Amino acid sequence: MLTLENVSKTYKGGKKAVNNVNLKIAKGEFICFIGPSGCGKTTTMKMINRLIEPSAGKIFIDGENIMEQDPVELRRKIGYVIQQIGLFPHMTIQQNISLVPKLLKWPEQQRKERARELLKLVDMGPEYLDRYPHELSGGQQQRIGVLRALAAEPPLILMDEPFGALDPITRDSLQEEFKKLQKTLHKTIVFVTHDMDEAIKLADRIVILKAGEIVQVGTPDDILRNPADEFVEEFIGKERLIQSSSPDVERVDQIMNTQPVTITADKTLSEAIQVMRQERVDSLLVVDDGHVLQGYVDVEIIDQCRKKANLVGEVLHEDLYTVLGGTLLRDTVRKILKRGVKYVPVVDENRRLIGIVTRASLVDIVYDSLWGEEKQLAVLS
Ligand SMILES: Nc1ncnc2c1ncn2[C@@H]1O[C@H](COP(=O)(O)OP(=O)(O)OP(=O)(O)O)[C@@H](O)[C@H]1O
Ligand SMILES: [Mg+2]
Repeated sequence: MLTLENVSKTYKGGKKAVNNVNLKIAKGEFICFIGPSGCGKTTTMKMINRLIEPSAGKIFIDGENIMEQDPVELRRKIGYVIQQIGLFPHMTIQQNISLVPKLLKWPEQQRKERARELLKLVDMGPEYLDRYPHELSGGQQQRIGVLRALAAEPPLILMDEPFGALDPITRDSLQEEFKKLQKTLHKTIVFVTHDMDEAIKLADRIVILKAGEIVQVGTPDDILRNPADEFVEEFIGKERLIQSSSPDVERVDQIMNTQPVTITADKTLSEAIQVMRQERVDSLLVVDDGHVLQGYVDVEIIDQCRKKANLVGEVLHEDLYTVLGGTLLRDTVRKILKRGVKYVPVVDENRRLIGIVTRASLVDIVYDSLWGEEKQLAVLS
């Protein structure tokens, strides 16, 4: 789909921003470029849609040399999300999303429908169509930036740190959303980031750059398990190496406890206390008859509400952080530990409760590998 052959860029003054890069990207692949500031990520990206002309080398899209194509037409076939969102402030959301379809002369009705359909993809309603960018939150603006790149159905999309300016929680949910989107849209995506967590989460393959050159290309697992050199190792961070050193345990459902203590909403608070006492737990997950998770009650909640309420359903709290059973541990362990929660319910796609992961069991995994490493050190010394 996309091939870079001995591509270099020398800016005026003679410094090589990109040096002899070779890379083949398959159709439908999600590629992340990662590396420190100034290593040439944006430059490489902009050479692909000819916003910057290479000083040497060739770039092919579907076998065609991009230097032999009209740059404006080329750019219309490539979605582009720039580093700072880049919505036009004087245009409505509809106009912003429909920029390329309009250049491609789609009829107005079709442009409108497309904008609506795209908004729906990110759970935003048609009421946003006539608003202006400043009337949206940062996360929403960023979504629109992404939608704009998708609007004319380009097979190739370039994204330069599209989530860079977001707070961690918004960023996290946008990443999830985007990953789902990618699974249904099958686009080829080149995505620049300098956040290793983001790259690991999203990429089929990661390209690590340093001072204009490729240091390593591989799947997230390749790179986590076999970092090419010390630079990559440092970039990944020691914590990640620890997490990936237990290759047999990969998914949350492999370590969860499959028998969490539950109760239904129609039970009384005193029944709830009885169950807690019997099972020696201080918190119960509330499920319905189909085992769909509804919330939780704990000793404190019951203690506070005992006088005002009678049934579990009246006092349960719904604000629960959950994970899907198939989630990779490497994506969740740190998040769970950072949140400081004592346990996380594990659910399936229909929010049915299938297990529970406790903080203690996660800590065990992390420390198992830590100690494993220390033992090795002891043998060496
Ligand atoms: N127009 C320019 N003229 C001269 N040098 C430039 C120009 N644009 C970029 N450079 C230099 O080329 C190198 C690569 O820049 P580039 O923007 O590709 O980095 P980057 O990896 O995207 O960094 P960041 O993570 O900060 O966005 C840097 O050393 C930069 O200073
Ligand atoms: Mg950049």
